[in-house]
Amino acid sequence: MNGIHFKRKCKMIRIWERKFWIFSILIISFFLFVTFQVVVELGRFEKHKMKISTLDDIWQHKQLLPKKLEGHINSRLGHERNKYPILLWWSPLTGEKGRLSQCGRDTCFFTINRTYYQHPMTKAIMFYGTDFNIDSLPLPRKFSHEWALFHEESPKNNYKLFHEPTITLFNHTATFSRHSHLPLTSQYLKGLQTLKTIEYLVSIERKNELRKNIAAVAYVQSDCDPPSDRDSYVQELMKYIAVDSYGECLHNRDLPKQVNSPSSMDDLKFYHILAQYKFILAFENAVCEDYITEKLWRPLMLGSIPVYFGAPNVEDWLPSIKSAIIVDRFVDPQELAIYIHTLDKNDTLYMEFLEWKLKGIISNTYLVSAIKNRTWGVQDVTQDNYIDAFECMVCKRVWDNAHLKEKGLPAKTWNADARHLNCPAPKAFSFQKEMRPKSNMREMWKPSFEQSKREAKALRTFLDKNRNFTTLEFWNLVFKY
Ligand SMILES: *[C@@H]1O[C@H](CO)[C@@H](O)[C@H](O)[C@H]1NC(C)=O
Ligand SMILES: *[C@@H]1O[C@H](CO)[C@@H](O)[C@H](O)[C@H]1NC(C)=O
Ligand SMILES: *[C@@H]1O[C@H](CO)[C@@H](O)[C@H](O)[C@H]1NC(C)=O
Ligand SMILES: *[C@@H]1O[C@H](CO)[C@@H](O)[C@H](O)[C@H]1NC(C)=O
Ligand SMILES: *[C@@H]1O[C@H](CO)[C@@H](O)[C@H](O)[C@H]1NC(C)=O
Repeated sequence: MNGIHFKRKCKMIRIWERKFWIFSILIISFFLFVTFQVVVELGRFEKHKMKISTLDDIWQHKQLLPKKLEGHINSRLGHERNKYPILLWWSPLTGEKGRLSQCGRDTCFFTINRTYYQHPMTKAIMFYGTDFNIDSLPLPRKFSHEWALFHEESPKNNYKLFHEPTITLFNHTATFSRHSHLPLTSQYLKGLQTLKTIEYLVSIERKNELRKNIAAVAYVQSDCDPPSDRDSYVQELMKYIAVDSYGECLHNRDLPKQVNSPSSMDDLKFYHILAQYKFILAFENAVCEDYITEKLWRPLMLGSIPVYFGAPNVEDWLPSIKSAIIVDRFVDPQELAIYIHTLDKNDTLYMEFLEWKLKGIISNTYLVSAIKNRTWGVQDVTQDNYIDAFECMVCKRVWDNAHLKEKGLPAKTWNADARHLNCPAPKAFSFQKEMRPKSNMREMWKPSFEQSKREAKALRTFLDKNRNFTTLEFWNLVFKY
C-alpha cells in the first residue's frame, strides 16, 4: 500500500469518524432536549398544580403524629441503630436524618443519609418515583438490598418507571394500581362518608333556576395540555354545549375575587360555586387503569354529575353504576353533548344519577371493601398516612425474613410485576388541530413516552450487570436502542 493511498484512507476514516460523532451528538442532543422540555414543563405545571397537596398536608401534620418515637429515641440512637434494620430513603422526601419507627412489634431505622448505603444493617433502599434519577443510583446493588418504590404521582411524572424493565427492578411498591403491594388508588378519597354527604348538594329546582346565569357544565383545569390531551376534547365539546371554564385552560369565566387562587381549590366557597353546576368535567391528566384522582371524587361529593375521562376501568370505583357519565361510552364530543342536553332538560333522568346520594347508599362493594382495607388515612391525624404505611409494610417484610432466617427457614421473596405501574402510550385527539394554539408540550408526550421505553431498557441493562454507570454511558446506550 503506498503512502498517499494510506493517508487518504486515514483521512477518510477521520471524516467518517467526525460524521459519526456529529451524528451521535445530534441524536443525544435530541434526547436530552426532549427530556429537558419535559422537565421544564413539569416544573411549570407543578407551580400551577391545583390539587389537594396531600404530601404537603402530611408534612404539616407530621408533628402531630404520636406514633414516632423520635425525641425519646434520638439520644440513644447511636447504639440502638445497630440492632434494627436500616431502611434508607434514596430521596429527600421525608427529610429525616434518622428516626426509629415502630411498626407493630417491629422497629426499623429510617434515614435519608446516604452514608448508610455501606452499613451492614441496611436492608432496603426506598425510592420516591418522582425523583428516581439515573444520575445517582445506589449501585452496585448489594444482595441484601431490597428496593422499594413509592410513587403516588400522576403517570406523567417519570415515564421511565412505567415499563416492565424498570418496574420489575423493585421488590416492594406503592402505586395507584390495585395490583401494587400497597395500592394507593383511593388516595384522594378521604372516606365513604365524604362521598355520601349532602352538605353541598343543591336541589334540582335551584340548579334549574341557576341555569339562567350559568352553563350546565363546569370545567376547572390549570394544568393544560397534559398527556391525556383533555383540553382538545373539551374544546371540541364546547362547540356543542356551553361550558364554564374557570381554570387557566380554555378559560372563559372568572371566579369571584376571594376564591381566585389555585390554593383555594378546596375552599368551601369554591365548593359551593361548583355544586351549583349540574355537570362537572372530571378529566384526568393521564389515561391509565386505576389512575383516579380528586377530579372524580369532588363532583360526587358536591352532588354534581362527573363527566369522567381517564381510567378505563373507573366503573370499578364508582359509588353506584349510575353516578357518573363516562366519556368513553360516547363516539364523539357531539354525541356526549347531546346526552348532557337530554339530562339537562329532563329532571327525572338527571336525578337518577343522584339517587345513590339521596338514599345514602354506596352499592359498589369493591369500593367499600377497598376503603375498609386501607391501612392508612387521608388528611386524618388519627391514622397513619400512606408513607408511614409503606415504610411499615417494608419494615415488616424485612423483619419477617429476619425471623425466618433465625428459624433456619428460607426467606420470602417479593417482586413487582409489570402491572404495578402500567400505562398505555399517550394518545392525542385528532379534531381540528389548527384551532388550538400551538403547544410544545402536547406534541412532546408521545416522543417522550417512546424515549422513556429506551431509557427503561438501558437502565435495565446496567442493572442486570449490576454496575455503576456515567450519564454519558447511559445516554449512549439509550441512543443505541
Ligand atoms: C450521615 O451519617 C454519618 C455517619 O453516621 C454522619 O457522620 C453524618 O454526619 C451524617 N450526615 C448528615 C447530613 O446527617
Ligand atoms: C456511581 O458513579 C457516580 C459517578 O461516577 C459516583 O458519584 C457515585 O458515587 C457512584 N456510586 C457508587 C455507589 O459507587
Ligand atoms: C323524561 O324522561 C323520562 C324517561 O325517559 C320520560 O318518561 C319523561 O316523559 C321525560 N320527561 C320529559 C319532560 O320529557
Ligand atoms: C379486602 O380484604 C379482603 C380480605 O383480605 C379481600 O378478600 C378483599 O379482596 C379486599 N378488597 C379489596 C378491594 O382489595
Ligand atoms: C428483590 O429483588 C431482587 C431482584 O429482582 C431479587 O433478586 C431478590 O431476591 C428480591 N429480594 C426479596 C427479599 O424479595
